[in-house]
Amino acid sequence: MCGIVAYLGGRESAPVVIKGLKRLEYRGYDSSGVAVVDPEQGMKIFKKKGKVADLENVLKNETFYANIAIGHTRWATHGEPNDVNAHPHLSNSGRFSLVHNGIIENYNSLKQVLINKGYTFSSQTDTEVLVNFIEEVQRSGNYPLEEAVRLALKDVIGAYAIVIMDRENPNRLIGARKGSPLVIGVGQDEYFFASDATPIIEYTKEVVYLDDLEIAVVSENGLEIRNLQNEASDPQIQTVDLELEAIEKSGYDHFMLKEIFEQPRSIADCLRGRVNADEALIQLGGLRDYLGKLAKAKRIVFVACGTSWHAGLVGEYLFEELARINVEVEYASEFRYRNPIIKEGDIVIAISQSGETADTLAALELAKAKGAIILGVCNVVGSSISRVTDAGVYTHAGPEIGVASTKAFTAQVTVLSMIAIATAHKKGTITDETFRRLLIEMSDIPKKVEEILTLADEIKDISKLFTFAQNFIFLGRGLNFPVALEGALKLKEISYIHAEGYPAAEMKHGPIALIDEDMPVVFIATRDSSYEKVVSNIQEVKARKGRVIAIVSEGDTEVRKMVDFTIEVPNTHEVLQPLLTVIPLQLLSYYIAVLRGRNVDQPRNLAKSVTVE
Ligand code: AGP
Ligand code: GLU
Repeated sequence: MCGIVAYLGGRESAPVVIKGLKRLEYRGYDSSGVAVVDPEQGMKIFKKKGKVADLENVLKNETFYANIAIGHTRWATHGEPNDVNAHPHLSNSGRFSLVHNGIIENYNSLKQVLINKGYTFSSQTDTEVLVNFIEEVQRSGNYPLEEAVRLALKDVIGAYAIVIMDRENPNRLIGARKGSPLVIGVGQDEYFFASDATPIIEYTKEVVYLDDLEIAVVSENGLEIRNLQNEASDPQIQTVDLELEAIEKSGYDHFMLKEIFEQPRSIADCLRGRVNADEALIQLGGLRDYLGKLAKAKRIVFVACGTSWHAGLVGEYLFEELARINVEVEYASEFRYRNPIIKEGDIVIAISQSGETADTLAALELAKAKGAIILGVCNVVGSSISRVTDAGVYTHAGPEIGVASTKAFTAQVTVLSMIAIATAHKKGTITDETFRRLLIEMSDIPKKVEEILTLADEIKDISKLFTFAQNFIFLGRGLNFPVALEGALKLKEISYIHAEGYPAAEMKHGPIALIDEDMPVVFIATRDSSYEKVVSNIQEVKARKGRVIAIVSEGDTEVRKMVDFTIEVPNTHEVLQPLLTVIPLQLLSYYIAVLRGRNVDQPRNLAKSVTVE
């Protein structure tokens, strides 16, 4: 992941930006840079592959003073990580410098237009194309810079958060965003731009979260916001009333808990601009040219690892049930070392929060080499996997810092649900009525997740009774079988308790030998097509003195009588249940791990992104 920091005000700008870039280090990057406009020396740009500390060392040997600066930590998407490809990027005239998070998908066509007009490029990045495209628009009509930015961005396809600086007007900064985050800090006669509030709040707690397709101008006239249609809007200033340390965890004890509680918003962010229940529409811009191919696909193969593999299993049930397409779910680490059979028209979909998992990337490249259409479901804009794929859908869950994936999982399942529902509707394997009902149910999911989160204290009390368990079994059927696997993984990776997930019916084929009064068993027993069967499985476990925690549907009275603990989740369409039934399992594993004194955000032996084989 990467970051933007920019400053305009009375302070010396470069130290503010450098310190801000360091606060974004948690996002990960491969190079960094800063640009300033010194009233005497003009525009100065310093860029360096490596850590922000390496950039700082370069600046130590430089003499300049400025009150305006833009800075960037890069996670390369176009052009290898090196000094030249690092940001900020300069326009050909040397007048404009720009930093960018995201991907300009149509940069190639824009670059050809600019080359034909005599522009030259020193880097291989899409970003350098953008700053020169803005320059060309500005020159073509001698527009004020903010108007040139607006006009240029109307022709840009892709994701961006940008800040641009003008050597000839070093008393203003212009920012804009679509798909990548950008926050504006409003101080006393000073302004900040950043990818999140972390670099800002030590100077001001007054922030504005820019919305997609908005442009912000900060200058001596204050903060002005317009959208790409040139409609002005009043800045919605919010007060971030938390200290720096807290803002990173937003007052939660751990990132994982913060991210569990972010899920109503992260799912809403994932749905925003994509699901429109009123107009019965699903719009997945990234798959615009691929929905037809998905509808015609004979086979879909998911390649992923860990939690993302569990999301793939949910995807399998969704595509088979709704779109009647044959689906296989492959561990990427296995797929990449076999000689898999890929046929014409096969679609391989990589699911990855980080977009950097080495096995998943390798599996995807193998599928591409064998002629498959390759799509991606990633959380990190501009990640390697998102760069390799022909197309894809970002989960927009925001940075997930806790090693144990939570909001990324529900965002992945949300995206897979949208793709499966859209594909099924295009194929005609679901009726318009079912399509509309599913969209309404999807739109209600964030609110229902919110409801489940109000049970946190109840779940915490249950966790106290299982703090010293040595083993756990998680059981579910149908779409809740992958959720059982996910619950087991959550518990084992942060509490170090041995836990296994199984299809509930599978117990009779061996695992039931494990059941006794010391074996806690979590059943996902929500009201669905396999409910009666799961009830029978619960009775089999209870008959052998197993201690049972059951996730049940709101109002369930039958299971409640049989088990030791029940946790209710709201009702929803069966195919959307995983988005709800996983939430109590995330909380249960979190509270047990905390009670066991574990390092919840950085469990032993684990990394957030496994970029090695
Ligand atoms: C899940 O909690 C783990 N952090 C791990 O299994 C993770 O899902 C796996 O490494 C895949 O990561 P990715 O989604 O970034 O590719
Ligand atoms: N696509 C741009 C590049 O490759 C920006 C990548 C980023 O978000 O850091 O330089």
